[in-house]
Amino acid sequence: MSDLFSKFDPLIEQREALLSSGLTDPFNLVMEKVESPTVAICNGRRTILLGTYNYMGMTFDPDVIAAGKTALDEFGSGTTGSRVLNGTYSGHKACEDALKAFYGMDHAMVFSTGYQANLGIISTIAGKDDYIVLDIDSHASIYDGCALGNAQIVPFRHNDIDALEKRLRRIPEGAGKLVVLEGVYSMLGDIAPLKEMVAVSRANGAMVLVDEAHSMGFIGENGRGVAEAQGVIDDVDFVIGTFSKSVGTVGGFCVSNHPKFEILRLVCRPYVFTASLPPSVVATAATSIRKLMHGADKRAHLWENSKKLHAGLKALGFTLGTEQPQSAIIAVIMPDLETGAAMWEALLKEGLYVNLARPPATPAGMTLLRCSLCAEHSSEQVDEILAMFGAAGRATGCI
Ligand SMILES: Cc1ncc(COP(=O)(O)O)c(C=O)c1O
Repeated sequence: MSDLFSKFDPLIEQREALLSSGLTDPFNLVMEKVESPTVAICNGRRTILLGTYNYMGMTFDPDVIAAGKTALDEFGSGTTGSRVLNGTYSGHKACEDALKAFYGMDHAMVFSTGYQANLGIISTIAGKDDYIVLDIDSHASIYDGCALGNAQIVPFRHNDIDALEKRLRRIPEGAGKLVVLEGVYSMLGDIAPLKEMVAVSRANGAMVLVDEAHSMGFIGENGRGVAEAQGVIDDVDFVIGTFSKSVGTVGGFCVSNHPKFEILRLVCRPYVFTASLPPSVVATAATSIRKLMHGADKRAHLWENSKKLHAGLKALGFTLGTEQPQSAIIAVIMPDLETGAAMWEALLKEGLYVNLARPPATPAGMTLLRCSLCAEHSSEQVDEILAMFGAAGRATGCI
């Protein structure tokens, strides 16, 4: 019998080599207590959270928590059913209404995760004979959606407008075309030139889907994302998003103005063949989304945090993923995995949690310490964070 696990041997060896040096496993951290959106207890120590994607800090919002508790009491712990059978409660509809109001769009469809939203929408609208033109650094859920639908995949160089145009021009006349872009790319925290890319896609007869997972709530005048900030939200056919970042819970969605959008509820397999979100989750999501519509002050404070952290890390001598802060993600580039893991551990010992990201999730084989800021981080916490980066950087020889 051949061992189907043998393909994982190189990864197992790499992991064992890393851990044999006595390093804490960076992918197995347990938070013993979570005190707020910015502080948890890890290994018995107060730890500032700088790697949660909890951009708007909604997880402990009193109104959000109260809505979840009420729904739990009134509707029970789960729906035990698909959205198309017994799994649509009034809360699911209210959540979709909140999304329609937030984006000013006609249709909204809530999925159980953002991963499933990409999987479902992409695989359902682009099938075997259709072409999907996508940025090579797209999220795994986008690639998996392309694979599930069996469409022809045409990747182009990251954020390269000319490369996108060239790929589009080569697609046979009359073929179905979908361009898939992200507002913010989560590895380096850079934003897409959506204005130009959407124009090029439109000029070449393609529909456009933008994943705004990392920009919802924060970027754009109303927090609708990079497409809003760059004035092209009305030219985008589908916006995909998640509740697991700014919204502060779990779930995913697609909003659109397409007149035939509602048919997707019957033909989208990752929507039909899975249980819907629990009532408490959709209640927290709806409450959070409605509050995010009035989040201008929080957005402004988050931009201040992002600028301050970016400038501070640069001044300490770290190499960052972007020249200027473009989002609430600031990626610190490490020379290799060993140094990255050592720096990650040194930061944790100082009392700071960041995400360690490594290939294949990262572009160009990079090891990154990904920092994601929260609107609830105080300016003093950002000072503390910078001091910890300084100490850990000097201890590991990174700076
Ligand atoms: C760009 C992007 N799209 C989709 C997702 C999936 O979101 P969820 O956590 O809701 O499955 C993520 C999550 O990391 C993401 O970064």
